[in-house]
Amino acid sequence: MITKFFTLGVAVIVASNSLHAETIEPATLRQKVLEIVSPIPERMPGAEKDTKAQIALGKRLFFEKRLSKNESQSCNSCHAVDKGRGGVDNLPTSPGAFGKRGGRNSPTVLNAGFHLAQFWDGRADTLEAQAKGPILNPIEMAMPDPQEVLSRLKSDKRYVREFAKAFPAQTDAVTYDNLAQAIAAFERTLVTRDRFDDFLKGSDRALTAVERQGLHEFITVGCTTCHNGPLLGGNGFRKIGILEAYSNEADKGRIEVTKDEADEFVFKVPSLRNIALTAPYFHDGKHAQLADAVREMAWLQLGQKLNDEQVNSMVAFLNSLSDKGRKAPKVAAVGGAAAGMP
Ligand code: HEC
Ligand code: HEC
Repeated sequence: MITKFFTLGVAVIVASNSLHAETIEPATLRQKVLEIVSPIPERMPGAEKDTKAQIALGKRLFFEKRLSKNESQSCNSCHAVDKGRGGVDNLPTSPGAFGKRGGRNSPTVLNAGFHLAQFWDGRADTLEAQAKGPILNPIEMAMPDPQEVLSRLKSDKRYVREFAKAFPAQTDAVTYDNLAQAIAAFERTLVTRDRFDDFLKGSDRALTAVERQGLHEFITVGCTTCHNGPLLGGNGFRKIGILEAYSNEADKGRIEVTKDEADEFVFKVPSLRNIALTAPYFHDGKHAQLADAVREMAWLQLGQKLNDEQVNSMVAFLNSLSDKGRKAPKVAAVGGAAAGMP
């Protein structure tokens, strides 16, 4: 085994001299990874009961600008899923219908239905509960109440027809609950497929040697103590700034939801699937560059200063988590490089 390792390491070094000698054999690496991470399941929980008519209606609603007071914004404005985008707006924080900004970065809607809860602080339990929020949020879509949303939809005969088709058992199907259910049904189709899962399912060649090296680092350094499971996150809540305080303490995180002091600066551990598509990073959109987010995570959460080679290989690995067919847009730098770092 050891000899095999060694030979492989040497072979790889010949091919790319920027690599560590301790390159790990793909099959051994795969075995190790599968103890902590698994491929994304085929379907999201609950998707089995979604009908085609509900999904089609939900998709139309997701792109519907009339769901905002001045008809300027749809869900897709802040969570762009079309044109190969990553389910985000790639802005540090998002301007709402009237240009006001909230305090938090828009997380991706891709794979969101796999999360244990929605929002950075987990304040909504389900996609349905989540979907009802932004339409009525004064700094997002700013509709005054559900009635106004429903009367707009009812004035469009096509919507009345589509709601009836999606919820055939109901006489008046245009309800706020049904709107949320349809949007959630559409969101449950947003399951992504990437090269990392191809690797987990047995294809050695799905990842390059540098990406495998980065994956190995990711585990060895300890990132997987929090970023684990099928989404490499989305399955728990942890504090940002475990060993070193985070530079921006304005947002106290989950304590606002639970009123439990232990939840100060606690946020949902974000999924790292599609992370290369969803810059900028952290709940306040602090870092435009993934490398800076990786470096700061290692310092804040694990007390480790990574060298450039570790950072670069981890970033290469994280790029293998992007949905095939989606790509990262260019993001303007925000906040400068690694502000607040030692
Ligand atoms: C003005 C921008 C904006 C609009 C419009 C908007 N969102 Fe969001 N969305 C956000 C922000 C910002 C957050 C994070 C807020 C927080 O965590 O407190 C978020 C969070 C979410 C989440 C949680 C994802 C996760 O990982 O926790 C989902 C799902 C979501 N939005 C779906 C929707 C849907 C569906 C609509 C349309 C009904 C919508 N959003 C409209 C900005 C927006
Ligand atoms: C102790 C738990 C923990 C550990 C260990 C950890 N993370 Fe995180 N990670 C988090 C939490 C919580 C957040 C959300 C932080 C925030 O913005 O409030 C996060 C955010 C991130 C983000 C930004 C995600 C986004 O959508 O903006 C990246 C990238 C990331 N982590 C990568 C890593 C890497 C790489 C490592 C290892 C060097 C690591 N993390 C170690 C808990 C952890």
